[in-house]
Amino acid sequence: MDLKGRSLLSLKDFTAEEIRFLLDESKRLKADFKAYNREKPLKGLTLGMIFQKRSTRTRVSTEVAMYYLGGHGIFLSSSDIQLGAGETIKDTAHVLSRMLDGVLARVYAHEDVKELAKYSTVPVINALSDKYHPLQILADLLTIEEHKDRLAGLKLAWSGDGNNVCNSLLIGCAKMGIDMSVATPKGYEPPNDVVELAMGFAEDTGAKIVITNNAEVAVKDADVVVTDTFISMGEEEQEKEKLVAFKDYIVSDELCANAKSDFIFMHCLPYKHKEATEEIFESENSVVFDEAENRLCTVMAVLNAFMGQ
Ligand code: CP
Ligand code: NVA
Repeated sequence: MDLKGRSLLSLKDFTAEEIRFLLDESKRLKADFKAYNREKPLKGLTLGMIFQKRSTRTRVSTEVAMYYLGGHGIFLSSSDIQLGAGETIKDTAHVLSRMLDGVLARVYAHEDVKELAKYSTVPVINALSDKYHPLQILADLLTIEEHKDRLAGLKLAWSGDGNNVCNSLLIGCAKMGIDMSVATPKGYEPPNDVVELAMGFAEDTGAKIVITNNAEVAVKDADVVVTDTFISMGEEEQEKEKLVAFKDYIVSDELCANAKSDFIFMHCLPYKHKEATEEIFESENSVVFDEAENRLCTVMAVLNAFMGQ
């Protein structure tokens, strides 16, 4: 499978076989991180890591991944580079492409990471935008497969905001044959273009995509229950109204009683203590830290495939 030189802005641009390849590569890398530290497949290569927003998991997993792969990751906070002081994305892309072998970027507007990729001559990896979070979903798919031994035929339920993580899960589930039911309050549904894309991919795999405002309906018989913060980065001023709107979408024991008895609970983290009860977050069904751990091997697989030989 040759992914070298491509950019990863959304999983929508990748086939199920390419996603399968990245998941299998992740498993291979996870089995022996240290072997890659010895082999150093990205020796001599550099990755710029632009962050317009905070990050724990994405930043640390990417820096560690570059170290294990033998390359070098350079953290570029947007408030410290000229991009944050008015230099255009286009000029930034031209300059970084002449010095680096890849660029990873966490941005506010998805259009900005698209613009970065348009003018870059090196691979660009989306490390979260307001629309998509593809690196997270590779880790999520791997975590589901580790706990459920399969992907196709499972049911995943989302209760919460129709946000970037939800959008990427819709694409990833549809492509891998997982049924996905999304429950959001009215007005917070995932965008139509994403739902249409997911429904199109689902036609090929037989996955069922359901968008509803009823959390019990979404969670009914689910194998996997997922939520995320109700207040994404950049939405802080909406906190008051959103917390009111989302009160019936909090993942609780009561809501999860509708799921299969062996359901797993997932959350990309950080957990803001409003979107799921402490009982669920700390329960035996919760696999949130396995999910966080899987950010490392999945980003290693991505960097190796897109930047390596
Ligand atoms: N899940 C995730 O992307 O976390 P960070 O914001 O810590 O990178
Ligand atoms: N939806 C969240 C995800 C954080 C990893 C956000 O965009 O802030």
